[in-house]
Amino acid sequence: MRRLVVVSNRVAPSSGADSAGGLSVGLHAALKRSQGLWIGWNGRIEDSAREELQVEDGEAYQLATRSLSQAEHDRYYAGFSNGALWPLLHGRSDLMRFDPEDLPYYLAVNERFARQAVPLLSSADLLWVHDYHFLALGDALRRRNAHQPLGFFLHVPFPHADCVAALPCHHQVMRLLSAYDLIGFQTEASLRNFRDYVVRHHGALAEPDHVTLAGRRVRVGRFPIGIDVDRFAALATSARVQQLVGELLPCFSSAAGIVGVDRLDYTKGLPQRLRAFERFLEQSPQWRRRAFLTQVAAPSREDVQEYADLRHDLDTLSGRINARHASVDWMPLRYINRALPQWRLAALYRLSRVGLVTPLADGMNLVAKEYLAAQDPADPGVLVLSRFAGAADQLGSALLVNPHDFGAVAAAIRQALEMPLEERRSRWASAIAGLRAQDVHDWRERFLVALAQNPEPPLVR
Ligand code: G6P
Repeated sequence: MRRLVVVSNRVAPSSGADSAGGLSVGLHAALKRSQGLWIGWNGRIEDSAREELQVEDGEAYQLATRSLSQAEHDRYYAGFSNGALWPLLHGRSDLMRFDPEDLPYYLAVNERFARQAVPLLSSADLLWVHDYHFLALGDALRRRNAHQPLGFFLHVPFPHADCVAALPCHHQVMRLLSAYDLIGFQTEASLRNFRDYVVRHHGALAEPDHVTLAGRRVRVGRFPIGIDVDRFAALATSARVQQLVGELLPCFSSAAGIVGVDRLDYTKGLPQRLRAFERFLEQSPQWRRRAFLTQVAAPSREDVQEYADLRHDLDTLSGRINARHASVDWMPLRYINRALPQWRLAALYRLSRVGLVTPLADGMNLVAKEYLAAQDPADPGVLVLSRFAGAADQLGSALLVNPHDFGAVAAAIRQALEMPLEERRSRWASAIAGLRAQDVHDWRERFLVALAQNPEPPLVR
């Protein structure tokens, strides 16, 4: 069997997956079964960063990680990746902060990871690179004579062609994707946008499953990421989680719980969600004192200005909602501004009658899937899901909403709280069957099978 080598900026936290974002959760689940090697950033900033990747044996796979220097962190991670590419790829070119001096750092970090990865590779490996931090890594590997099949998966959306073209160096950066043999997207819409972008801005040729970009034929496809449904369901019924469920039960039986769990990120639509919840409180007086929202917002990328601004706005907004609507014995909003471990989230999902997942744009959103997997099949809760999350493609049985339409989200919350048991069961059964059919193992298998098939000859630059 060929060894799988995965490269991503963020690697799994040593304690296993937590709320660090969909990518590390998904890759941890994918690698747990297939073993292999995971290369990435160790999360530390050290100016004395040692050059080599430090290899260690993890639970089920090996990790090879290194630190970033302060300048690399500021310009490659906070700057080009999260200040420019992240907003751009989520359709927010208005929030893009493009500093031309960041680009050389971005390319240099991609080069450095490639240079340090090559000695760890063997010719039989399959290489799978993840997300917008490493658009240039494939090209750097190819120039170092890595001839293995080389796949790339974009976890975030690929927006409309003209939005991508707002990045001044889009041509230079995006054409480097031609080094990969297979490029995967979460949704049909992202795949369509990518095809349209390379045709319009690179004069590429597009066939149904391939594009010919920068003179090289690259396979493209849709591979929606899933979760390990069985593992998450088992976690939700484990002794530890059930004990917590028991402890929290009094609070969730006196009023119905609604739950939101996100990184504190402007793409997640958190201010809009809180406003929609407030609208629900105003429009549904019969639910006053009988429902409450727990919103977990895990701090993220705090050195990027937009994130610090958002945190401040949410502090103000959550305080205002409670100040306006709370009574001595009831608090409508529990706003938790820190990451919680996955087992605590599982208890929160299990106890909550409504899962509220309303991003403005999202590649997939695994919280939506975890919420469903944690439910009690005999008495499941209801998912209210933004139609702009990739997960909406697969979860037509959720209550799909436009997160900008506060009235519609408020109505969906109420509909979810008042939904009869039979309807909840049938919506949940159809959703969970879909999630099982397209779980994280299926995602990995489908991508790797496609990658191993007939790679095009490597480009010699
Ligand atoms: C999203 C991105 C991932 C990223 C995660 C957490 O899921 O697609 O690439 O790892 O957010 O963000 P962070 O910047 O903390 O790695």
